[in-house]
Amino acid sequence: MPLPSNLAARDIETLIHPYTNLATFRESGPLVLDHGKGVWVYDHAGKAYIEGMSGLWCTALGHGNEELVEAAAQQMRKLSFAHLFTGKSNDPAIELAEKLKEIAPVPTSKIFFCNSGSEANDTQIKLVWYMNNALGRPRKKKIISRHKAYHGVTIASASLTGLPANQIDFDVPIAGILHTSCPHHYRFAHAGESEQAFSARLAAELETLILREGPETVAAFIVEPVMGAGGVIVPPYGYFDAVMEVCAKYDLYIICDEVICGFGRLGAPFGCQAFGFQPHSISVAKALTSAYVPMAAVTVPEAMYQAMLDGSRKIGTFGHGFTYSGHPVAAAVALKTLEIYARERIVERAAQLLPQFQARLTALAEHPLVGEARGRGLVGAVELVAEKVTKQLFETSLGVAPRAVAFAQEEGLIVRFLPGDVVSICPPLIISPAEIDELFDRLGRALDRTLDWLKRERLLAS
Ligand SMILES: Cc1ncc(COP(=O)(O)O)c(C=O)c1O
Repeated sequence: MPLPSNLAARDIETLIHPYTNLATFRESGPLVLDHGKGVWVYDHAGKAYIEGMSGLWCTALGHGNEELVEAAAQQMRKLSFAHLFTGKSNDPAIELAEKLKEIAPVPTSKIFFCNSGSEANDTQIKLVWYMNNALGRPRKKKIISRHKAYHGVTIASASLTGLPANQIDFDVPIAGILHTSCPHHYRFAHAGESEQAFSARLAAELETLILREGPETVAAFIVEPVMGAGGVIVPPYGYFDAVMEVCAKYDLYIICDEVICGFGRLGAPFGCQAFGFQPHSISVAKALTSAYVPMAAVTVPEAMYQAMLDGSRKIGTFGHGFTYSGHPVAAAVALKTLEIYARERIVERAAQLLPQFQARLTALAEHPLVGEARGRGLVGAVELVAEKVTKQLFETSLGVAPRAVAFAQEEGLIVRFLPGDVVSICPPLIISPAEIDELFDRLGRALDRTLDWLKRERLLAS
């Protein structure tokens, strides 16, 4: 086996790392993981880490699930590849589409398969445009997203994403993608504004935006139930009721990006159910296969399907699809994943863990560095601040959250920093109560060490 130091050097000279400061990375180098089991991953030195982020919010069943391994191997032996182009098909894709139609929280006519969340959201945009052309309303094309949203990085989905690092110097957003306010009460509410009043104000802002653009030009609104990469932002009381009413008024197609929240993350099967709103379509990925292989999907309602049929009658072929749309191996793994979720009652299990998880998370709000500890279900975050009362942020250049994440790593815990000195937590849904305690103990120690470092370096006001 190559020495870790060799691997690190080879990594630095060969890989472009997504979401990494490429300049500082040349000094810090990679954490090279070797193997994993359950919620634990191990580096080459044998050091164990709790995977406190489920990889990238995705490995819901943890590592080393033999049933998933076997499902993939069996399908590879039987039919290793098949596509859905030109009317070809394969059993696992058909069966998975049936299953997704059955469990989807929205009325669904058909399923369109993709390979990533970005592709799914790009597909959503293209389908809305295609539908509105078929329906004879070619001007109704603009899509509204939200500041701090995360919907992916391909050109259209990066345009939906509302985070500066995904847009600066990449020449996005493209035309026709608009952003409305971010529903983060802690950061953006006026002094003394209740959650309900804040929600009403945001709905009014959304309506103003639609009226300014012209409702006949606005096609859709896309939302994550809990905003993930933007900072684990949990919308306030009354938010979805208020904005959905506005969308209904102007006939907007609602796309719910369930890429993180789908399949039990919030303690309900889907995020929109946790918040009680009804989109027209959902995008799913990540936990669909517990991330053992890439796969994503988009649900298509009957009205959209009928419009697509009209499109085909006019144009001929439906000209959208990926080589790996409905890949049989991915579909077989997804089917097995969904079978395990149902058999092991993973959603109910996650729901049972919520009180402990949320209690440990909420307790972190007492920490001197934590401005807000927030979350829903088995996802959470702490926002680190220089001053609690004024909510003053640290200078970004100090790298406070990155430092906390580095300390966590030393403590044997993988968590992630997000813009605005947020540290996020999203463990596999199979985590045990003892492992939840261990996770928060380690995170607490990492925050203490961050505080000590700030004091030592005289970087705190007091
Ligand atoms: C809510 C949401 N949508 C879309 C995406 C993009 O998915 P992918 O990275 O698979 O393209 C992500 C990725 O984290 C996500 O969190």
